Amino acid sequence: MTQDHDQSARQATNHPVYRPAARHLHWATAAGILVMLPLGFAMTYRGETMDVWDGITNAMFSTHKLLGFLLLWLVAGRLLYRLLKGAPPDEPSLRPWQKHLSHAVHWLLYGLLLVVPLLGWIGISLYPSLTIFGLFDLPALTGPDQPRAERALAVHGLLARVLMVLAALHVAAALQHHFLRRDGVLRRMLPGLKPRG
Ligand code: HEM
Ligand code: HEM
Repeated sequence: MTQDHDQSARQATNHPVYRPAARHLHWATAAGILVMLPLGFAMTYRGETMDVWDGITNAMFSTHKLLGFLLLWLVAGRLLYRLLKGAPPDEPSLRPWQKHLSHAVHWLLYGLLLVVPLLGWIGISLYPSLTIFGLFDLPALTGPDQPRAERALAVHGLLARVLMVLAALHVAAALQHHFLRRDGVLRRMLPGLKPRG
């Protein structure tokens, strides 16, 4: 979709950039994911691999569940905004295959950003393990069924790894555009950057 390129969303070089709301939502999601991935691995290592189930492990699980739950709504809002407002037209120097590949990766990222936390929420509903910091429960999506909980959480962990790999490729592509190709791709998401020679 390319209907969103109003004057306020342009930089000095007159190349369209993402709207401020789209950029804020992008960086908030990126920060959330960069916390959730290591936290998910660290808490399962501490709890399941090392078998340490103390206050710290429980706090890590509670933080992961609560932050992931909030992130799910943030991503839902971001996706809705994207569908309603679109994105600026592609950076003109990109070849057609680069445009197709970047669109495919972006939509896959959006899909995983929804499916991964949803599977986490379904998993803890089935387990059930909905309590956060011993203070309150997240709403249950389904009744208890532990074998299915284990399957849902295994797929959650697997898809979180796929998300990690795709996000790493995405970041590498963004940095490659900025430092090697020296085009305007990163400036679309970070319009404070100066145009480069
Ligand atoms: C985008 C958000 C999320 C990401 C990137 C993420 C990522 C991860 C990762 C990397 C693991 C470790 C998997 C492993 O070691 O095999 C994990 C485990 C887990 N996550 Fe998430 N997660 C997210 C959201 C959620 C949500 C919303 C919940 C629940 C409300 C949740 C509940 C869990 C639980 C219970 C585990 C432990 C699974 C097990 O015991 O095998 N996660 N997550
Ligand atoms: C340092 C980290 C990151 C950098 C430098 C970066 C950079 C960018 C840039 C430059 C764009 C715009 C691409 C274009 O103009 O076509 C973009 C879009 C996007 N990024 Fe990132 N990103 C980062 C992290 C992430 C993470 C962690 C995620 C999610 C896992 C993510 C998800 C997305 C999505 C879904 C889009 C598509 C936006 C749209 O068109 O609606 N990014 N990113």
